[in-house]
Amino acid sequence: MNDLGDGTRCVHAGLPEPAPGQPFLPGPVFAAPYHLDPWAGPAASPNGYGRPDNPTRRLLEAAIGELEGGDCRVFASGQAAITGLLLTVLRPGDAVVLPTDGYFPVRAFATDVLAALGVRVLFAPTVGPYPSFEGVRLVLVETPANPGLDVVDVAALADRAHAAGALLAVDNTTATPLGQRPLDLGADLVVASGTKALTGHSDLLLGYLASRSTELVEAVTTWRTTTGSVPGAFDAWLAHRSLATLDLRLARQSANAEAVAALLADRADVTGLRWPGRPEDPAYPVASTQMRRMPGVLSFDLGDADRVSRFVAASRLVVAATSFGGLHTTADRRAQWGDDTAPGFVRLSCGVEDTADLVADITSALDAAR
Ligand SMILES: Cc1ncc(COP(=O)(O)O)c(C=O)c1O
Repeated sequence: MNDLGDGTRCVHAGLPEPAPGQPFLPGPVFAAPYHLDPWAGPAASPNGYGRPDNPTRRLLEAAIGELEGGDCRVFASGQAAITGLLLTVLRPGDAVVLPTDGYFPVRAFATDVLAALGVRVLFAPTVGPYPSFEGVRLVLVETPANPGLDVVDVAALADRAHAAGALLAVDNTTATPLGQRPLDLGADLVVASGTKALTGHSDLLLGYLASRSTELVEAVTTWRTTTGSVPGAFDAWLAHRSLATLDLRLARQSANAEAVAALLADRADVTGLRWPGRPEDPAYPVASTQMRRMPGVLSFDLGDADRVSRFVAASRLVVAATSFGGLHTTADRRAQWGDDTAPGFVRLSCGVEDTADLVADITSALDAAR
């Protein structure tokens, strides 16, 4: 399928061969135990028990794996995938490098849990400088980083990590596999929250990991089976159904972000605008070569919390919500969640509304909140 366009690949990803009388995407299989062969037991069937085995989940994994270019395992949430990776790969005495400006619960997990297990936790901003990777087992980066939207050169970092014998994992949540394919750029692993743009309907939690290393995928699969951090069949089916429109959704979100960035850049009452797709953005030089398309997420500063509240209250289309990448345009004042951001810092996730409507609405809401 790699010779086909993004839209075609999304529509067909992970679907079984057409069979007369069968649906395009088979419905969710709800099963805890499955019937076993009374003599051969689980060896005779791909499905024995629901924690390790579910055909709906496997189809979703085939789909995401096709898009990422690796073998995929899905998890109950992005956080389950990331912590599963960290706990599978790291052992007492190992060192790990994590972003200072990435999703903050990962940092909290590292300082609360990994450090207590004897893992040395090092931090670096996404754009560096990075510490020496000597003695480091795993480097995890988020690019574009959430919520600051800085970008790092994955291929260059992969070279540095591999030269020191470290693994490189990339959190691909914001970009999605249509925005960039970290495994093609030299990363050993991709982790992501599928809760965001990947599935995009704000109705489920999902995480995944992808890799071309059989050994790593096997280790993570064992981790997932023994800890039980699997998504349910209905969520897996919903996610697969939503994946088919990823190309369409991202195209509109990205076009909306471009238009909103242009409008914000022209306003004297908005500061700190970040969107990796703007040629003036510090992330643009790397993003424009490394990424295949730009995200629908941008960030800016409205000065104080009160003004952010007035902006959202005055808007007809922008709703206050955390998370991002969904069909609806949302604004999140990140400081309220504990991110190390200014009080008026807003992460705006553009939805798939009509661009003209969104631009008009944001303009009048900002005017009203002045
Ligand atoms: C970049 C990034 N990674 C991971 C996660 C965790 O994902 P989930 O909420 O699906 O557990 C998030 C959630 O916001 C995120 O933004």
